[in-house]
Amino acid sequence: MRTIKWQNGTVITVDQTKLPLETVTLKIKTVDQMAEAIKNLRVRGAPLLGACAAFGLALAACNSKASCVSEVLTELEDAATILKSTRPTAVNLFWAADRVLDKARDFSGDVEELKALVVGEAQSIADEDAEANRVMGENGAALINDGDVVLTHCNAGELATVEYGTALGVIRAAWKQGKNIKVIATETRPLLQGARLTAYELKRDGIPVTLITDSMVGYVMQKGLVDKVVVGADRIVQDGVANKIGTFTVAVLAHEHGVPFYVAAPKSTFDLTRKSADIIIEERKAAEVTHYGGKQVAAEGVNVLNPAFDVTPLKYVSAIIHEGGVYYQKDFTQFKTNAPA
Ligand code: MRU
Repeated sequence: MRTIKWQNGTVITVDQTKLPLETVTLKIKTVDQMAEAIKNLRVRGAPLLGACAAFGLALAACNSKASCVSEVLTELEDAATILKSTRPTAVNLFWAADRVLDKARDFSGDVEELKALVVGEAQSIADEDAEANRVMGENGAALINDGDVVLTHCNAGELATVEYGTALGVIRAAWKQGKNIKVIATETRPLLQGARLTAYELKRDGIPVTLITDSMVGYVMQKGLVDKVVVGADRIVQDGVANKIGTFTVAVLAHEHGVPFYVAAPKSTFDLTRKSADIIIEERKAAEVTHYGGKQVAAEGVNVLNPAFDVTPLKYVSAIIHEGGVYYQKDFTQFKTNAPA
């Protein structure tokens, strides 16, 4: 099922803040509405954010009243600035916005043709993500054995992508191949993407899933209850993988217990010109930590740290699954030269 669709000048998606209790359709008609949806995590997950940025530019193009191509281009640049200011960590958002902008800058033709080109490029980005996830799923399923218990963190599923999912794509493909697997999903504090979204997706698809709190990861690994870890990524740099806060902890625990730690991400998540220190980690508001279910639970005025992501050094990563195959530890050295095999 597609998470995001372009329908006659409107972006159709689902408000993920309301799941799983309510399925509320979002109809996004302007760049500002798209920026609001991204900032407030109505849409989220790195590959989906790429599609959102691309469709955001498609909205800017379609809503333009400009009569010449250079004016439309200026409006597209302004829209890209707004979209890029929403969330800093997932590189897919920047990659997709730049891809659409580059295509528009290289274009020669009239205004209507430019608008069609921008919409077409956004649609291609969405279609390519759906296809990449299916291929990645097959590539990753080869690493999963019949009977495995696979732990995943956050939501790297259909809802985080245009279709199928990255980490959950691997799990789905293994399940479809008839492997009798089980999943452990971490709740993923503070915004509970694991409890609200991953558990929902897997349960809906009939894939056995057990929900745990983030602090139980050490317990389940020490008890030998986990065979593999598969997570998604927001940005893969020369020396590390940025993903939802808590991923680094899971990776260190997996390393300690000899559990393979796999990352599944499309090429649009790779940013091999950068290093871990260059990644801007999004800091979100204190209320996400001091409040639970809308109710204050922490002492009034307490200091809060709320980074939304962390970076796992590559030494803890057993393999990175992508649409072109699988990179293992031996391949990671090539990341430094920006030219993986
Ligand atoms: O803050 P979110 O919900 O956008 O964070 C999402 C994650 O960290 C995912 O694990 C990541 O984007 C990979 S999604 C395929």
